[in-house]
Amino acid sequence: MSEVLLEIENLRMHFPMYKGALIRKEVNRVRAVDGLNFKIMKGETLGLVGESGCGKSTTGRAIIQLYRPTEGSVKLRGKDLTKLSHSELHPLRRDLQMIFQDPYSSLNPRMTVGDIIAEPIKVHQLESGEAIYRRVQELMEIVGLDPRFVRRYPHEFSGGQRQRIGIARALASKPSFIVCDEPISALDVSIQAQVINLLEDLQNEFGLTYLFIAHDLAAVRQISTRIAVMYLGKMVELTSGEELYRRPMHPYTQALISAVPIPDPEVERDRERIVLTGDVPSPLKPPSGCVFHTRCPFAFEKCKKDVPEFKEAEEGHFVACHLVDDPERRKTAPNVTSPEAAKAAVHAMDKAFGPSLPESSK
Ligand SMILES: Nc1ncnc2c1ncn2[C@@H]1O[C@H](COP(=O)(O)OP(=O)(O)OP(=O)(O)O)[C@@H](O)[C@H]1O
Ligand code: SF4
Ligand SMILES: [Mg+2]
Repeated sequence: MSEVLLEIENLRMHFPMYKGALIRKEVNRVRAVDGLNFKIMKGETLGLVGESGCGKSTTGRAIIQLYRPTEGSVKLRGKDLTKLSHSELHPLRRDLQMIFQDPYSSLNPRMTVGDIIAEPIKVHQLESGEAIYRRVQELMEIVGLDPRFVRRYPHEFSGGQRQRIGIARALASKPSFIVCDEPISALDVSIQAQVINLLEDLQNEFGLTYLFIAHDLAAVRQISTRIAVMYLGKMVELTSGEELYRRPMHPYTQALISAVPIPDPEVERDRERIVLTGDVPSPLKPPSGCVFHTRCPFAFEKCKKDVPEFKEAEEGHFVACHLVDDPERRKTAPNVTSPEAAKAAVHAMDKAFGPSLPESSK
């Protein structure tokens, strides 16, 4: 059993909405993250997937304490970060870093690349004097940037190069955990694989642990050890990448997988699809019971009333759905998980994004 690096319990991040200028009164709250329970193992890449606005970035920020959570705990090697004051947190921040989605807006345009990368080294007093400059050059080399460009400004670099600057900045404080918040979605497809490969190489070299956020399942596939699926502030499923693609248990995950186009017309013809209707409800007023019940094709009475527990349905496979306790009803779920369909979905993703599963498992 590998070592737990982070343990997240009942994590909630609500953003209050106020009314009134003089007497501010809370009128509502955005339930961006609403009760997450999961662990991140040392050295793994946990992929975090879900539609826009489901709370992925907020989860990442609340874990590394860029946001102080409304409720719950985040334990780093057993120490609860949410209980620490700002000054107690400061030395631990060195260990927890983030790579941002947009390499254009996340770098200060008035700072040189050298100053951007040097900032965490100075803030955490890791080097002094000339050694800072040498460390910046070393970091530029590690991420594949020419150290001669150290005095240039972000606008003088391409999108892919800017993301490398963001990666160098995240690495500068020698962290053990990095939230990679959609680090490739703003980049050209041709550059995306390079950045993924760089992140994988860095993980192997420095023993890093990643939370890797993406919009869709295909994008996290190559890099993830395990994958978590989020819907409206809740985690609905979490298991290994291979298990998730072959045997998705939650109807939402099944819908995401059934939406992957398969190039084989025969398999495509026989496969059942789950087409989700309606929009994602607002996190200001999430539905009662299971938050997915307004769009779930298998919803039944219990789903409107009772919140399904996120629990280990099978070894290492966590899911939040009442169908798990109702095998008869579960049989009515469509055939997106038949061996042929699972194999075809994996094949389609291989074609689009390159192989990631070991040959023997295909
Ligand atoms: N600082 C904030 N104040 C108020 N609401 C916020 C704040 N940050 C996020 N939200 C809201 O919380 C919800 C979750 O936002 P979040 O950015 O975490 O989603 P996401 O899954 O990362 O989306 P995307 O894929 O578009 O990046 C959204 O409804 C968003 O509008
Ligand atoms: S609990 Fe009910 S509504 Fe929610 S995903 Fe399962 S079947 Fe669908
Ligand atoms: Mg986001």
